[in-house]
Amino acid sequence: MIDPSSINQIVDLAHIEDVVGEYVNLKRSGSRYKGNCPFHDEKTPSFVVTPGMGIYKCFGCQKGGNVIQFVMDIENLSFTESARFLAKKYGIDLIETNIGNSDASMEQQREKESLQALNDFALSFFQDQLIQAEEGRTMALPYFRERGYTQKSIDFWKVGYSPASWTAFYNHAKSKGYSDEVLLKAGLIKQRDKDGGFYDLFRNRVIFPLVAVNGKVIGFAGRVMSKVDKAPKYVNSPETLLYKKSDFLYALSQSKSEIRKNDKVYLMEGYTDVMTLQQAGIGNVAASSGTALTPGQIRIVKRFTSNVSVIYDGDIAGMKASLRGIDLLLEQDLNVRVIPLPEGQDPDSYCKELGSEGFQEYLKHNEQNFIVFKAELLLTEASNDPLRKSEVVSDILGSLSLINDKIKREILLQELQSICDIPIQTLYTELGKIDRKNRQKDSEKNISQELSLLKQAEATINEFSDPNTEVLSDVHQERALIRMIMLHGNKPVGTEELTITEFILQELDDDANASFQLMHEPYTLILEFVKLYYSNNQCAPEAVDFAKHSNPAISKFAAEIYSTEHTLSSAFIDNLISVKTEDDNYPKELIDIFLNLRRTKIEEMILEEQKKLVDPEENDSEVLQVLDYLIILRKQIADQIGAVTARL
Ligand code: GTP
Ligand code: MN
Repeated sequence: MIDPSSINQIVDLAHIEDVVGEYVNLKRSGSRYKGNCPFHDEKTPSFVVTPGMGIYKCFGCQKGGNVIQFVMDIENLSFTESARFLAKKYGIDLIETNIGNSDASMEQQREKESLQALNDFALSFFQDQLIQAEEGRTMALPYFRERGYTQKSIDFWKVGYSPASWTAFYNHAKSKGYSDEVLLKAGLIKQRDKDGGFYDLFRNRVIFPLVAVNGKVIGFAGRVMSKVDKAPKYVNSPETLLYKKSDFLYALSQSKSEIRKNDKVYLMEGYTDVMTLQQAGIGNVAASSGTALTPGQIRIVKRFTSNVSVIYDGDIAGMKASLRGIDLLLEQDLNVRVIPLPEGQDPDSYCKELGSEGFQEYLKHNEQNFIVFKAELLLTEASNDPLRKSEVVSDILGSLSLINDKIKREILLQELQSICDIPIQTLYTELGKIDRKNRQKDSEKNISQELSLLKQAEATINEFSDPNTEVLSDVHQERALIRMIMLHGNKPVGTEELTITEFILQELDDDANASFQLMHEPYTLILEFVKLYYSNNQCAPEAVDFAKHSNPAISKFAAEIYSTEHTLSSAFIDNLISVKTEDDNYPKELIDIFLNLRRTKIEEMILEEQKKLVDPEENDSEVLQVLDYLIILRKQIADQIGAVTARL
């Protein structure tokens, strides 16, 4: 476990706006920052960073927390890994202890760590098999050599070899103590239906490790070395806790600094394409592993550059199939260029044919704007068919409408006009129509986003004053109580000399009758923290104390509580007066919460008594007397709740 003092140091030194700013383009808005959420696709920013409290919150996808949580989310790291990541970056010496942590996510965390350890182990096995073992040196190393890869490239990409055996890796892993369970979970072995026996996923293949942006090996791809009938050319690790196919781009980890430096990435299909270009001195490369680009992959690329040049394999059918995927890039405000290759070539083969300098020249001279490329490709074949031509033009204008930059649009429209020979006025009119349609779609999306915010706000209000006077569930009551302390903890309760916090702590202590205990995390943790803080300082913690708390469960909840109201648009606040006036209503809410607590407790007691009625050992008349009393009490409390609600 990492010592809380280290966590505090990280939270103090690693400013949330700086850390987030490396991944998200943030714009100041009052005392906060706003930007497009890096965790889901959106065009209108609902991602808010509050530097004063060191927290972020997205109102679209609900992710939120402090700086450590952010790094966990964006780099897909565990709490400990994230703390280490930030500590390293900000030159903080971490104090780590061996005491366990009872976090609910610990189980998953442990599983991730064991998968990671196994993948690291598998990587060195495959590398050893290629470089040390006799079989690899004679069978596999020549494969790479014949394709022209140097030892330096082989080391750089950490490629390896899986022997021609059903159980070479399995046996080795077992001998080192890895369990069948974790081997199966990592997808490195498979189980036979027939006899339940295990065998290696990768056999007699050269291995390309799949390395995540953070440098961790999350999976593998294995390629056959010679065409064997029916065997697929590549076999890939299945998705695991560590490897999510749609969020992975090959080579980003190794080439991200080159991509940043050149402010540009060459995007290709294959692992070997990437290797060949890198060896030829073109290091700003990545590969989509042969599939259409996904929004997840594009989000990662965007962290390093907005200039994407796609190098297409030289076959027209393939190019056409990829055109759609490119619209995704445009939508994300990336500058997309395209470099077509001659028929039958891929970047690997053509780079080898032209040599490194020749290929670099080729890239320079054959790069085209994507829209222009698309127009030329599609219009050539539609030139004799007016109907098809008009379809193609609308398709291209559709892509063009995704570009927000006015000047770029104008230039491209002019170019398009000269390619398709349609009056520019007609193009403007058509583009206008598409824009209007898009705007309508956008506003529908916005409305549905706002509606979900509205629902959230309503739910919040209902927690405090349920008009149906229904008993709130435990977890809601606990949340309401803790929220009350966090928002109003140091304010007075009515005319009494007590603060909200004092009142609540006393009620929870004294109330032997109701004996209400918090049961749910994070509320139990927060209450403990409040008690401790109170006994030291005689007041409740401030918002920042919650927000910057070393326990992620607490800071995450704080992000939720403290970011909420400020992000509701003014229209909401106008319509939902109670949100706005919550500040003045807190004493009433407090009474409400405790009335509801009592009511829950009384319901429970009534149930207990009712159970006794069927127990032959119990004295029925006594039980009925108690029940009578409880039912009167319940009615009184229901009336009180009703009265409070009516005064709203
Ligand atoms: P080489 O033939 O070794 O040059 O590889 P390549 O990368 O040029 O292969 P190709 O152009 O056929 O495919 C491009 C990418 O698609 C590969 O790098 C793989 O990521 C992926 N791919 C190709 N074939 C398969 C397959 O059979 N299975 C899987 N899972 N992926 C494949
Ligand atoms: Mn190839």
